[in-house]
Amino acid sequence: MIPLDRLDALVVALWEQKIKDSKASAMQLMRKLFREQGLRPKQQKRVKSLFHQWLSTEALVEYALENSAPGGIIGVLAGPVRLLVSRVLAGDLSPKEARKKIPWMAWDVVVGIPQEVQKIPDLPRRLELLGSISPWLARRLSEVFGEEAQPCLEGLLGKAPVTIRSNPLWGTREDLQVSLEEEDILTRQCSYAPYGLVLEKPAQLLRSRAFREGAFELQDEASQLVASLVFPPLGGLVLDACAGAGGKALALGGMVGKNGRVVALDTSASRLSDLRRRARRARADHIEGFRVPQERWPPRIIEIARKADRILVDAPCSGLGSLRRNPDLRGRIHENEVRRVRAIQLRLLERAAQILAPGALLVYATCTFLPEENQEIVDEICQRVPGLERVPVAEIFARILEESGPLPFTTEEGMFFQSFPHRHGMDGFFGAVLRKRRS
Ligand SMILES: C[S@@+](CC[C@H](N)C(=O)[O-])C[C@H]1O[C@@H](n2cnc3c(N)ncnc32)[C@H](O)[C@@H]1O
Repeated sequence: MIPLDRLDALVVALWEQKIKDSKASAMQLMRKLFREQGLRPKQQKRVKSLFHQWLSTEALVEYALENSAPGGIIGVLAGPVRLLVSRVLAGDLSPKEARKKIPWMAWDVVVGIPQEVQKIPDLPRRLELLGSISPWLARRLSEVFGEEAQPCLEGLLGKAPVTIRSNPLWGTREDLQVSLEEEDILTRQCSYAPYGLVLEKPAQLLRSRAFREGAFELQDEASQLVASLVFPPLGGLVLDACAGAGGKALALGGMVGKNGRVVALDTSASRLSDLRRRARRARADHIEGFRVPQERWPPRIIEIARKADRILVDAPCSGLGSLRRNPDLRGRIHENEVRRVRAIQLRLLERAAQILAPGALLVYATCTFLPEENQEIVDEICQRVPGLERVPVAEIFARILEESGPLPFTTEEGMFFQSFPHRHGMDGFFGAVLRKRRS
């Protein structure tokens, strides 16, 4: 047996559970374990960090085992050995300490694996190992980004900042900064998102008084900027066609104000129930959640869509751009998954574009940067739906941000919003704005 401390043993149990139940997310499995084991917050944080670290380095761990374990790893040792290898690779455990636990591993080989992999000349293979991503995704990233694929992937593997969005229904961003400072929580303003703040050092944000009062929500800067692109009129009507737990719907609720209305749709009852809870905390009773079937909108939703000033389709996607927040997504992004979500993206965007009122705006967004989920979807729908035209996002940003000059996160000619962790420090999001010409 390999001597493991309690938290290490729990991480191995999580990994074994994940193999048995490949559909469960890492977060679901951890929540269940934390409940069952009654772990304190500090212990939970440690387990989460070890488990994410392991998931982020799975392919490197396998590569290290192939190169440094005599005769391969068998039976009950598989989990503990892999965990210790992932800890050594992440610099969280010294080879000396690891040797005390497993004397027969070539730990000096394990520590050199990351440098070894950097020397692999075949870019897709290198990406596959460095990012623990599927061979298909590694090839796609190399095709789309060429040599920039590696920095792009490294950005996706990095640590995400903690970013929040102040709730204008509660007060200003400056009021929030002052309120948080009274609780020793230091923040700075986001570079672009008008309501955004970035945490300067770790803090128990969700235990703060400001959070209980609904003064803010956690939301990445790119997601905030996509919501800003919708820029609904004060008192306006917005249809959020894929609202999920309400990240953007809540932001839109702040923009339309209490005299406006946000109708938030989703197919998932549990996400909508999270949305309602968050809307209550944000004092936003003008945000209404409706559960809709996958295939169509009921007549009353079609009526609302016809009258909406704005429709947002924040479509289900591969999630590539948010990998640094969801490390267990990495193995799931492959060709079939992208094909599956593309079909939903086309269907949802076409449905919204057909109903969109002349003069109203339709915003299409994803948290990925694969062109087949983004520009290509927009192009296809513009061909299918007569009178639909693209509005350059640069025009909209010029109206809503106090920035003059070119913005770093727009594509050529300012047509689309496209952010990347390695270029902008934000999650990878895409946004396009469409309008129906008045005939
Ligand atoms: C990218 S997430 C939305 C994130 C959310 N807008 C936010 O800002 O937090 C996509 C959502 O689309 C939902 N969805 C999938 N198919 C749908 C459909 N046909 N109609 C409405 N929502 C759908 C999923 O349940 C998921 O919550």
